[in-house]
Amino acid sequence: MKMLDTLRSVVRFERIETDPVERRLRRAASVADLRRIAKRRLPGGVFDYIDGAAEDERTLAANQAAFAHTTFRPRVLRGLEQVDVRATMLGRPVTYPLVLAPTGFTRIADPEGELAVARAAARAGLPYTLSTLSTRSIEEVRAVSDGRLWFQVYAWRDRALVKEMIDRAAAAHYEALMLTVDTAVFGRRERDVRRGFSLPPAIGPRTIVDGALHPGWTWAFVRSEPIRFANVVGRDVGDGASPVTLSDYINTQFDPALSWGDVDWLRSVWDGPIVLKGVQTVADAVLAAERGVDAIALSNHGGRQLDGAPAAFSLVAPVADAVGGRVEILCDGGVRRGSDIVKAVAAGATGAMAGRAYLYALGAGGERGVDRVLEWFGNDVARTMTLLGAARIADLDRTLLDLP
Ligand code: FNR
Repeated sequence: MKMLDTLRSVVRFERIETDPVERRLRRAASVADLRRIAKRRLPGGVFDYIDGAAEDERTLAANQAAFAHTTFRPRVLRGLEQVDVRATMLGRPVTYPLVLAPTGFTRIADPEGELAVARAAARAGLPYTLSTLSTRSIEEVRAVSDGRLWFQVYAWRDRALVKEMIDRAAAAHYEALMLTVDTAVFGRRERDVRRGFSLPPAIGPRTIVDGALHPGWTWAFVRSEPIRFANVVGRDVGDGASPVTLSDYINTQFDPALSWGDVDWLRSVWDGPIVLKGVQTVADAVLAAERGVDAIALSNHGGRQLDGAPAAFSLVAPVADAVGGRVEILCDGGVRRGSDIVKAVAAGATGAMAGRAYLYALGAGGERGVDRVLEWFGNDVARTMTLLGAARIADLDRTLLDLP
């Protein structure tokens, strides 16, 4: 009798979750969990395209290690009742200091692709950067979002095409341009090389087996419209209608001779803010500030370009010392938790950017997955600041960090 009472007092029956997406997401508590789920759900080639990086992937690892090796110096007994995580970026408010980084070919993770990410970002009150190589167009993304949108620019050899895209972004009320400057040639991503990975995936015996082993993804993929480089559909630069390896595409279409003169050119054709993405030294941060850009993103493209490039986070403090106050500084690479965002800001950044975190979420649970990760990040930032004794974003400074 007593035993029954005791059992009754502890047993709670879990509601059975019938929605498969919810069921998957319920089992996830972190970006690492979402990555594991995405790895199980996506074909190997697709997962490796998202997860992988250049050569020995040392810079990929370094991006995360730089955060891991920096510990906090938490302050206690500060009488905080509430923390306020709101911040500003490019002079306008954000819910917390994060921007969603541009990622090409997003529909490979989920058929809704960029539309899902843009909607989730708008709901979260965060800016979303659409990639030049997006699989939904500038206009399609604007049509589903009344939030803050930035447009990432790659320098095609055909500058008239670039100019046309910039004009389209302006017409669709994109707020800022983000020029990516770390892709003069394509990084050697050896996971993709080994698999002969192309976009969209070329069908062969290996991809058929891979697809059959991942029926959820494959079914969604074949039911949705074909994937294209949506911003250049029908153009003679190629829109991805037939499979291309990204390295061939980028090495033939993009201009390796990009220079500071092109930044001036961009200024002459665009009235709004300019963010330079891919700055990797103090020296270039100083040149960027002198050139009058509005923000720099300290970034090595998530380790996908030059292996051996420094971890993005390791550059924040020296760059902030050199140009802080003159340009906004974004720390891009390795962000997997809100505490990483807090570290970036405490070291001197205006905010952080994240790429893979939302792609794993998209692969694991579609749009709801992205909602989930953006919600976690916001909660993480608030909790971390509470435990640090920092009431406002402006209270985050280096006294709260033990930088290596
Ligand atoms: C990227 N990144 C990227 N950057 C860019 O300027 N244009 C692009 O089209 C892409 N495409 C892209 C695809 C995929 C699958 C990934 C993972 C990354 C780089 C991206 O903007 C960002 O710099 C990194 O993702 C940051 O590192 P984390 O957050 O992924 O660690």
